[in-house]
Amino acid sequence: MQTIHVDLAERSYPIYIGADLLARADLLAAHIAGRQVAIITNETVAPFYLAGLERLLAGSSVTTVILPDGERFKTWETLQLIFDGLLGARHDRGTTVIALGGGVIGDMAGFAAACYQRGVNFIQVPTTLLSQVDSSVGGKTGINHPLGKNMIGAFYQPQAVLIDTATLLTLPARELSAGLAEVIKYGLICDEPFLTWLEEHMSALRALDQVVLAQAIERSCAAKARVVATDERESGVRATLNLGHTFGHAIETHQGYGNWLHGEAVAAGTVMALDMSERLGWITTAERERVVRLFISAGLPVVPPQDMTAEDFMEHMAVDKKVMNGKLRLVLLQGLGEAVVTGDFPREILDATLSADYAAQLALLKN
Ligand code: NAD
Ligand code: GLY
Repeated sequence: MQTIHVDLAERSYPIYIGADLLARADLLAAHIAGRQVAIITNETVAPFYLAGLERLLAGSSVTTVILPDGERFKTWETLQLIFDGLLGARHDRGTTVIALGGGVIGDMAGFAAACYQRGVNFIQVPTTLLSQVDSSVGGKTGINHPLGKNMIGAFYQPQAVLIDTATLLTLPARELSAGLAEVIKYGLICDEPFLTWLEEHMSALRALDQVVLAQAIERSCAAKARVVATDERESGVRATLNLGHTFGHAIETHQGYGNWLHGEAVAAGTVMALDMSERLGWITTAERERVVRLFISAGLPVVPPQDMTAEDFMEHMAVDKKVMNGKLRLVLLQGLGEAVVTGDFPREILDATLSADYAAQLALLKN
């Protein structure tokens, strides 16, 4: 087992990473203070992992809330089901909320923990690659609004994150690929040598090699922990973690939540950020094409939806959380491994990126 520490003074916490950690009662017990525990999961994850987790918590009074599965249920209405479960079973302020599932469950359970009686203990047990390398770490919690993704929420750090890499054995291949988009992101924003490592290990990752998966998760979590420790509430460098997300969120919202997976939208959005970085003269065509090849090897889309116009993108991007005083800011690359957050770019360059022919770019790359 590897342990990474997220260093946030009194809100610091460990991330435990390894195979079969869901058999380790001691790891969870160390972070549960009171008698009551509420497990929040969904109807897909529950049949695989709920009984095992309940067995580990045999000494606690456990309430289980099983939510419907899907990004389209990341709403106020679903959040209310968590509060119904907590209040219905009379959970007090000493309770511990455990999120068992992917990023949707983690974000909603975390927001519920932040709000319930103004804040109770919270533990993340992420079961998708995306949630293991990104959403379970750093304390961003929340829900979607029909007008924008993740627009309602809170920063609320967990007491611990328990990553059992064996849970990935039941994850659909498409979801694994979606998680790889966020793994590749860390190489792009701050760890260029990681891109070479990923090129060498992509087959092993997709074959669910537990040792290689744990190494990729550890390196990703370490990168995220460093960024979050420097800028917990995203006043600066943390925004670089959103590489590809401004374009990607526009894709997710426009296509209808859940139709494009978050990681898929991030991959196509990152291709747009690469295109714009190249147009600005900050990266070379060879660098852009190298990353596009890496996304393809991870099983990810590299062409944004062809029914989306530049106007569609602008409409959705106008509600991005990085918009400040009405000015759109984007995460771009000044080299592989060097992300910047900037609003300082000519509008024509953005327009060119929004209306570029990505299918034609892909055809050129394949020739
Ligand atoms: P998800 O939570 O929808 O999970 C993907 C699918 O896999 C779901 O159907 C889920 O039920 C299923 N699943 C989960 N674990 C499984 C397992 N072990 N075996 C079989 N099936 C399993 O999606 P996700 O990609 O994990 O997370 C995406 C969400 O995370 C989005 O809402 C996104 O906004 C959010 N997010 C948040 C942050 C953050 O910092 N808080 C960062 C990135 C993404
Ligand atoms: N996923 C972006 C962040 O945690 O800041």
